[in-house]
Order: sequence, then C-alpha cells, then structure tokens
Amino acid sequence: MSLEGQIEKLRSQFLEELDSASSSKDVDALKVRYLGKKGPVQSLMIHLKDLSKEERPQFGKIINELKQELASQLESLLTKLSENELAARFLNEKIDVTLPGRKEPLGKEHPINQVLNKAIDILSDMGFSVEYGPDVESDYYNFEGLNFDADHPARDMQDTFYISADYLLRTHTSNVQVRTMEKQNPPIRVIAPGRCFRNETISARSHVFFHQIEGFYIDKHVSFKDLIVTMDEFWSKLLEKDVKTRFRPSYFPFVEPGMEVDVHCTSCEGKGCRICKYTGWLEVAGAGMIHPEVLKSGGIDPEIYSGYAWGMGIERLAMLQLGIKDIRTFTENDMRFLEQFP
Ligand code: PHE
Repeated sequence: MSLEGQIEKLRSQFLEELDSASSSKDVDALKVRYLGKKGPVQSLMIHLKDLSKEERPQFGKIINELKQELASQLESLLTKLSENELAARFLNEKIDVTLPGRKEPLGKEHPINQVLNKAIDILSDMGFSVEYGPDVESDYYNFEGLNFDADHPARDMQDTFYISADYLLRTHTSNVQVRTMEKQNPPIRVIAPGRCFRNETISARSHVFFHQIEGFYIDKHVSFKDLIVTMDEFWSKLLEKDVKTRFRPSYFPFVEPGMEVDVHCTSCEGKGCRICKYTGWLEVAGAGMIHPEVLKSGGIDPEIYSGYAWGMGIERLAMLQLGIKDIRTFTENDMRFLEQFP
C-alpha cells in the first residue's frame, strides 16, 4: 500500500476508535497506542527513510500534520470527557450539609448509681466521708465483730453466701464499721456505699445482689437525738421534700437500741396507697446506737464514746423514686430499660 494509503487508513481507524472512546482513560490509552514510541505514527516516520530525497520532506510534513491532528483530537476529547467526569464526580460526592449527623451513643449513669451518688453527695455535704469495704469479707467483720456470736440466731436472718468457713460475700455494708474503727480515731463520720449479697430467691422485689449505704458517727456524747436529726435532714434532702420520719423498735445485734426508719410515703404523702401497702409509711433504713461490744471490737472505749449507725438499701429506693416495678431490671442490662433514665 502507498504511504498515502497507509496514512488514510490509519486516520480513519483512529477516528473510529476515537469515536468509541467513552472515558478519559480510553483517550489516554489511545494516545499511548497511536502516538507512543512504538505506535503506528512513529513507524510511518521510520518508513520515511525508504523514500526518495524529494519525497521525504513532503511526506514528513504530511506525517507531522497527521500527528498534530491526532494529538489535537485526543486533547479536545480528553478535555470534554474530563469535564463530564468531574461534573459527575461532584454530583456523586455532593454532601448535604443539612442532613442530621450520625449520633454516637452516649453512656449514662445507671439508675442505681444515680441514687447512690445523690445520697453520697448529700451526706458528703453533711460532713460524712466515704470509705469502701470488700465484697468478699471475713466472717469476723461481717458478723462476729458486729456482735453476732458464732451461733447467733440473727445470722439466719441474712441468708449468707459462704465461700469457706471463714469467708463470705458480705451481706451488708455494716462490715465497714469495725474496719473503719480500726483505722480511725473518733470523731468518725463515715458512709460506706457498696454491693451486698444474700442467698434469697430472686423475684420482682428481691435479688441476691443489691446495694446499700452504711452511715455511722462516733464521738463523745453522740445521742439518739443526733440520729433522728440526721435522718430527718438526709431523707428530706434525698426525697426533695420535707418528709417525716418514724422510728420503730427492731433488732440488729450491732445496735442497741435498734430500729427501723420509715418515711412518709412519697407517693400518697401518708394517705395510704398501693406502694406503701396502705400504711402511709415506707421502710427505708435500719438504724440504732452502735452496740458497746461493736465499739470494743473496733478498739473504741464505749465508756467514753458513743455512736449511731444506719444502713439503707438502694434498689428499693430507686424503684420508689423512678417508678420501677421489678428489681431484676437493674441487672439485666437491657438498653431499652436503661435508656429511659435521663
Ligand atoms: N446492716 C443492716 C441490714 O443490712 C442495716 C443496719 C445498719 C441496721 C446499721 C442498723 C444499723 O439490714
């Protein structure tokens, strides 16, 4: 085929391929293929040397023109396609800044901790400092040091999980009393929040695992009146209204006298309702004057010092305050339950 024929064929082939190029990538590939060092235009140049001296410049010019033509066609198609591609990309990557953001789940305080911390804040303001005792406790601090003799019937009142003959899961936060007396000298004004365990049948009202706060004050001349005043002030602050308290005699080996503390039902204000079982009162704590034997266990002379103590369950209180009907919901970790509390 003549050189002219070859050039024509090349041009029309190129145009055909250019026509079917649909992306800037295609165009780039075409460019490499036609104008690259091993491409057909370059090989035409090599054929120039076979021509006569007269023909050479003429064809050289033609080939150069072809080269430029291809280059400019490629360039203009590339510009057009790139513009389209960019526009398509912008459209695709468009961000709607008015869309609401993705919400990160935010942790919050467990309802039990809400009540615990509120009580701790109030009592801290009233001058009590916080002490912690161990969940796994010796029989001594949980019972014996608190005036429960080895065969004391009151041990049966607290269905205990024993780990061994001498160790158990503490049944109450009263275990912190003697521990604190061993470390501190009066005046002692301490609260001890924490977990307690009792081997009870799990139901809507009771669980094997719950929380208490213990509070006690030991000094010279601490009287029963101090206990009453403290209870009145604490419960009014916690329940955020002026509540009346009532003390009923009760028995705990580590206090003498011992009582149950009731507050006027927060739901019916004492008129009587289902929550207070129509008594008008809610039982909220055990309390009393610390038994001389317990002070002695802690190395404190009961002839010089006296003290009061009280202990309160947190679950029952949280249920009352938050309107929760089943104690088991606290430990089930169901987000639908937990998320309801602000
Ligand atoms: N520890 C007692 C209980 O768990 C409560 C209590 C504490 C009673 C302090 C009197 C004094 O039932």
